[in-house]
Amino acid sequence: MTTLPADPPRPTRDSAVPETLLAEYRARTPGSAAAYQRATAVLPGGETRFVTYFPPYPVILAEGHGSRLLDVDGIEYLDLVNNYTSLIHGNAYPPAMAAAAAVLASGAVFPSPHELQRELAELLVTRIPSVRRVRFTNSGTEASVLAARLAQRATGRGRLLLFNGAYHGSAPPLLADGPEVVTVPYNDIDAVRDALTEDIAAVFTEPFLGAGGVIPGRPEFLRATAELARERGALFVLDEVQSLRNAVGGVQTGLGLHPDLTVMGKVIGGGMPIGAIGGSEELLRLTAATTERNLAHSGTFNGHLTAAAAGSVTLRHLDAPAIDRLDLAARRLADVITAASAAAGIPTTVTRAGSILNVHFTPTAPVDAEQARAATTTPLLSALHLVLLLDGVYTTPRGMINLSTALDADDLDRAARAYTHAFQRLADMEIPTPSR
Ligand SMILES: Cc1ncc(COP(=O)(O)O)c(C=O)c1O
Repeated sequence: MTTLPADPPRPTRDSAVPETLLAEYRARTPGSAAAYQRATAVLPGGETRFVTYFPPYPVILAEGHGSRLLDVDGIEYLDLVNNYTSLIHGNAYPPAMAAAAAVLASGAVFPSPHELQRELAELLVTRIPSVRRVRFTNSGTEASVLAARLAQRATGRGRLLLFNGAYHGSAPPLLADGPEVVTVPYNDIDAVRDALTEDIAAVFTEPFLGAGGVIPGRPEFLRATAELARERGALFVLDEVQSLRNAVGGVQTGLGLHPDLTVMGKVIGGGMPIGAIGGSEELLRLTAATTERNLAHSGTFNGHLTAAAAGSVTLRHLDAPAIDRLDLAARRLADVITAASAAAGIPTTVTRAGSILNVHFTPTAPVDAEQARAATTTPLLSALHLVLLLDGVYTTPRGMINLSTALDADDLDRAARAYTHAFQRLADMEIPTPSR
């Protein structure tokens, strides 16, 4: 069994990006350089979230509206990150912000339940068949932790089975090196069969490895994993924190999955911090104050009303036609990137899960975290990121792209042109291409 950590790749410190590109970036972003320098005096590494760092320093953003971001130097970017999948309708989505603002004017957090929390929970219950009850937290990380605790309490078992390269947040017990965790390769049902012993409380899986490189789970693998978990008395926990943007009822419905627990976050808060778990009445009852010998679960800001209000509006506007349009746009962009990289002679594949894509500098698509990780060591990845930034397109250092409904036809054409141009520039730089 491999011991590869479950956490996704970290940003590289020395990415060996061509000096000409770094110089161009520095010349264009003096305001970001100065602001970053100031931040390092009070924030370790100048940031509060690993993924926002890249060498030599990150762009310091000032504003976002719809499909556009603005940095402190006044440079506008087309946003192809959408805060790592959470902004399904783009930045500062006016209906969601209006709902949140209305809440702010009348009190956003109370020492008592509120109708807005019930409204968002009702929406989730209506949309997702396996979700009959909902318990809110402040983040996907907290929701994962609650799901783990609930699974341990419900089964009386201690250990958790996770997949290499999976990301369920940055807290124990969902960290790969934790004493309660067993990790196995993704898409490998034999490894699941071997590792699913009778001390495993739950199998946690994403329907695709999101932070791990947007590696789709094979439907038969996911179904067999769910079945094995049930056979062996463990809970099957599906982490839909990212994938809820890809189907009205979560991707579980299309995959024929009925998880014991679903972990939710990101889009359900409409741009505000939130997390939630959903499942059967019987399981979720353990979190209720009215249940004897319940699982203690509290949090000053749980179910924050700005998130409840913004999230409800956001989900109502995320219907099946909107998701279909995003899916088509993502497929077209993937095709453009594949064609542009082939024309430039740079072996590249694009993996995709609905409106979430990932560019890999490998001739064949990675199927697990180990393969995806190997593809991140090339300086081509950082170079692509910087070239796109210099062209006014904001993407992720690790090659992930997340679309939003705020991107119109012109925006999508612009994104396609930027990738085509970027691959031509990369070809001219003659950076060695990895082989596999
Ligand atoms: C699949 C998945 N689960 C859980 C989390 C953690 O959510 P949060 O960042 O809200 O704590 C993330 C965050 O990226 C995620 O992608």
